[in-house]
Amino acid sequence: MCGIIGIVSSEPVAERLIDSLKRLEYRGYDSAGIATIENGSLSRLRAEGKLINLTNKLAENPRLGTIGIGHTRWATHGGPSEPNAHPHQTKLLSVVHNGIIENYRELRSELEADGTVFESQTDTETVAHLVTREMSSGRPPKEAVQQALARLEGAFSLAFLFDGDESQLIGARRGSPLVVGDGDGETFLGSDAIALSPFTDRIRYLEEGDLAVLTRHCIDVFDELGNPVDRAVKRSTSKSHYVDKGNYRHFMLKEIYEQPEVIGHTLGSFVDLTTGKTRLPASASIDFSSVKRMALSACGTGFYAALVGRYYFERYARIACDLDVASEFRYRESPLEDVDLALFVSQSGETADTLASLRHAKAEGLQTAAIVNVDESTIARETDHVLPTLAGPEIGVASTKAFTCQLMALAALSIRAGVARGRISEAQEMEFTKTLQETPRLVNEALHLEDQIDQLSREMATKKHALFLGRGFSYPLALEGALKLKEISYIHAEGYAAGELKHGPIALIDDTMPVVVIAPHDRSFEKTASNVQEVAARGGDIILLTDRKGAEAKVVDEAHTIVMPRMPEILTPIVYSIPLQLLAYHTAVQMGTDVDQPRNLAKSVTVE
Ligand code: F6R
Repeated sequence: MCGIIGIVSSEPVAERLIDSLKRLEYRGYDSAGIATIENGSLSRLRAEGKLINLTNKLAENPRLGTIGIGHTRWATHGGPSEPNAHPHQTKLLSVVHNGIIENYRELRSELEADGTVFESQTDTETVAHLVTREMSSGRPPKEAVQQALARLEGAFSLAFLFDGDESQLIGARRGSPLVVGDGDGETFLGSDAIALSPFTDRIRYLEEGDLAVLTRHCIDVFDELGNPVDRAVKRSTSKSHYVDKGNYRHFMLKEIYEQPEVIGHTLGSFVDLTTGKTRLPASASIDFSSVKRMALSACGTGFYAALVGRYYFERYARIACDLDVASEFRYRESPLEDVDLALFVSQSGETADTLASLRHAKAEGLQTAAIVNVDESTIARETDHVLPTLAGPEIGVASTKAFTCQLMALAALSIRAGVARGRISEAQEMEFTKTLQETPRLVNEALHLEDQIDQLSREMATKKHALFLGRGFSYPLALEGALKLKEISYIHAEGYAAGELKHGPIALIDDTMPVVVIAPHDRSFEKTASNVQEVAARGGDIILLTDRKGAEAKVVDEAHTIVMPRMPEILTPIVYSIPLQLLAYHTAVQMGTDVDQPRNLAKSVTVE
């Protein structure tokens, strides 16, 4: 989703703006631009597509300005074209924006009636003209921005650069995150700490409604009433987080291979490995003994992790779980009086729908907890209890290691909750935690299946559609496997509970349809085996993920069988994720798609 950077310096900033935008590439974008002040006047460069296009333009048109703003745009209002790329500019200012101005149609009509001519289809351009109108009537920049902000509805963060003014930038946030950073004789603003990581680790998170005025030597912050406020300076750890692909062809593959290690790290914060007892990280103090009902909510892959979490909490802790995709949680108007804990799952900690759900839960007076991977994120800062996953930075847009770390956190938490609620004895707790400690080894074994999966992907890459089936703990994985395949290979894929096949999707099956079945030899194996036979009888091309016992059952003659290690049921969602990730990855590589930055997708979805 859109990325913002701003620098006030005494050295040229253009190349540094682009360097910072490169660090924001992971968020997903389809055009980019910068604005600087050259010889006293605003000057901008914009390009559709990848940052290399902007870099090439800069090489042809060097910029020497010492103050500037930059932006990567993920199209919302108006297609991904150069005229719609940010910064948007008038004769008085340049602006970059992340988020959505919900009342832009009304504002645009008002401005057009006043004679303003628009150059783009974006909501952002209305902000540029609103502030310009205020400045034209004699208001100084800060006051003009404040007046214009009062007219805006929606969620946004903004950064302004003013014509002829090399002394200041103005940033403002409402709904979308914005950070400011102090350097030596220079200051910065950006949409997250990663944007600022090449320049400074001294950062301040702006709060809702804040406006910041950045000059070379100081940053003044004002709250929504316009009063000066102090926002605490934090040492960001993002600097050490600048990651490269190492010897891997893609971030996604690197992140798949990091899983044994990061799952182990995550386990370590939920289980004391010396005593074998479950525990909560220091940032959480949930008393599960009084939790009878939970509300879980998340988006995308995080939602599928939460669905596994529901199976875990219901089975191991006997806690009833409501579950909603975050974009629906607020609108369902479900009675929440009986909910003792609202639990959110998010890799980025910035997903607008999940954040809005968290705020809704808080407004309803619920105790909140969040499983979150970015510890400096808005969700981590706003929730009552933080349950960190220690996956490290996830750059590939398709979530892999964050997902399995979320599953590990949920598995360990459900055991912790079961113990607290007297459903799991101390001896059983030890047994469970011993099992959980086997995960990194088993994930490693699953990674050894890569060559076989690579072979299967060649066939998959020739298909237009695919079905994924699973039952019980494997049902959420069927959904996740289908999501992974569709988002990076663009093959249409659907996940179903295996038992649902006969209620509709079976109509799709013929000899052109690949059907991936996730079927460890667990309590539901026999039932899933019947569904596999139903597929085989209709000529479906079956890829069966099972273990040795499942393979020996010889459910059908024709299946491509991937034999996974045997493992206790609690681990199957985590370990069976690996072949699904590898299948999606290799299929996408076969098809030549942009694996790490698939079309239309954003890593951090900061609009609703
Ligand atoms: C899919 C994927 C997305 C995210 C979703 C939520 O691979 O990555 O579906 O899971 O956008 O993002 P977070 O977890 O950052 O809240």
